[in-house]
Amino acid sequence: VIRVGIVGLGFMGMIHFLSYRKLPGVRVVAICDPKPRRLAGDWSDIQGNFGPRGAKVDLTGVATFADYNEMLENIDLDLVDITLPPHLHAYATLNALRAGRHVFCEKPMSLELDACDAMIEAARQAKRRLYIGHVLPFFPEYAWALETIRSGHYGQLVSGEFRRVIADPLWNKMFWSSTDVGGPLFDLHVHDAHFIRLLFGLPSGVSVQGRRREQMPEFWRTRFDFEDPRRMVTATCGAIEQQSRPFAHGFDIHLEDATLGFDFEVRDGQGCYLRPPTLLTSAGKTKTIDVGGGDPLLAFEAELGAIVASAAADRDNEILSGLIARDAIEMCCRQRDALDAAFR
Ligand SMILES: NC(=O)c1ccc[n+]([C@@H]2O[C@H](COP(=O)([O-])OP(=O)(O)OC[C@H]3O[C@@H](n4cnc5c(N)ncnc54)[C@H](O)[C@@H]3O)[C@@H](O)[C@H]2O)c1
Repeated sequence: VIRVGIVGLGFMGMIHFLSYRKLPGVRVVAICDPKPRRLAGDWSDIQGNFGPRGAKVDLTGVATFADYNEMLENIDLDLVDITLPPHLHAYATLNALRAGRHVFCEKPMSLELDACDAMIEAARQAKRRLYIGHVLPFFPEYAWALETIRSGHYGQLVSGEFRRVIADPLWNKMFWSSTDVGGPLFDLHVHDAHFIRLLFGLPSGVSVQGRRREQMPEFWRTRFDFEDPRRMVTATCGAIEQQSRPFAHGFDIHLEDATLGFDFEVRDGQGCYLRPPTLLTSAGKTKTIDVGGGDPLLAFEAELGAIVASAAADRDNEILSGLIARDAIEMCCRQRDALDAAFR
């Protein structure tokens, strides 16, 4: 059984805790958070942008710590699960690896590229595994795309257009902090950056058009360039001034012999497909695909299941690898710098 300690018992810590409870071969044996209520199992004040509201949780058999290093020193763990705000990811990862634990750290890996490199190097030196929580490829629409592309059925991958747009998350006071969360670029677009990197490799260049808030990209469109000039990849992302559609995402992905696409949004509290996952083939067929979407919690269970299996086998995981997550941060940094340059 893989013994897990979770640090940062907020919204994502709760989602991970509840997901581990449904998985075989893993047990959460410790949690760490400075808030006494969280350590007492009263999570009723936790609320995120999906999933259940927090409730009272029975923590029998779970050791609780207000101090992270005390958790690392005082309990035997196989895996440390880091669900802290982004500016603490590197610090917490380095300490856990040095204490000889495997690490699963939420996205974004870090807000600093140097810190990402240090995290990868620390895992190498400690001979421990580092997994970064890029859950998007475990969402059924993206898993379907990845599987269809990799099947080779429809020829080579050619281009892609990706979209992720939210309402300003007024409930998250730190969202527009460039040092703690990083705004929509590092909180939101990093998902598409990671998926683009997974599919197409690291772009050779970016050009960005958009507007900024607090000196950060607010709403923007990026064209990613690759060595092959036929490869056209774009992403649109940001927060826009409205509060009735908190979330929307989708893509069009062009293969030699087919196009895959979908569009989803949450509006007035209801999630729905504007366009369900659809396959358009060069033979003229349109197929709507039932990918089994609808419950985001299932994606987290699939992601955590993959981590538990990889950690138990002492193996890396391609999708959740530190190297690809690090490249996604490089893509974010390049977009920020390109937009900064446009405003100079
Ligand atoms: N994959 C996804 O779709 C997804 C969704 C939401 C959040 N996240 C990521 O999860 C991470 C956490 O986000 P969240 O929304 O859960 O934040 P949150 O603010 O709800 O939770 C963070 C928790 O960390 C605790 N904390 C702060 N400093 C600490 C310390 N030094 N030691 C121990 N605990 C400490 C806080 O008390 C809080 O409970 C972020 O990196 C975020 O990007 C990912």
